[in-house]
Amino acid sequence: MERVKEQVKEIVRPFAGKPTELIQALHRVQSVLGWLPREAQEVVAEVVGVPPAQVRGVVTFYHFFRTRPVGKHTIRVCLGTACHVRGAERVLNALREELGIEPGQTTPDGKFSVEVVRCLGCCGLAPVMMIDEEVYGRLDPRKARQIVREIP
Ligand code: FES
Repeated sequence: MERVKEQVKEIVRPFAGKPTELIQALHRVQSVLGWLPREAQEVVAEVVGVPPAQVRGVVTFYHFFRTRPVGKHTIRVCLGTACHVRGAERVLNALREELGIEPGQTTPDGKFSVEVVRCLGCCGLAPVMMIDEEVYGRLDPRKARQIVREIP
């Protein structure tokens, strides 16, 4: 963990003593580590110059900050209106069953994380999910399970 602390110090050095740039600093750290462990948040607070409680507040308020490690693959299931009316809930339920996790969680083997999003910008293909950078459309529960099983 010491190594991570040193790394985070290095990453946020440009934001030292700049409390108004807290969010940018956190983004920078997350883009490198993939998430924001408690220890990293503490280092950011110290370097940027804000109380640790403020960092925790920001991290929990904005849904794009992650406080848990992410899996090797991130599955984003769209629950936006177009996807919702075409059965996105059933797709999500199939994935919850298949992977044994809830949105926001990572499988115990670290392979998949599941997130819920509000629109992936390809409503014509609803219901849609993304796995990493790849879009999968016109899903149904069976197809979604099949796709996930075939991801190495
Ligand atoms: S609502 Fe799902 S992609 Fe737009």
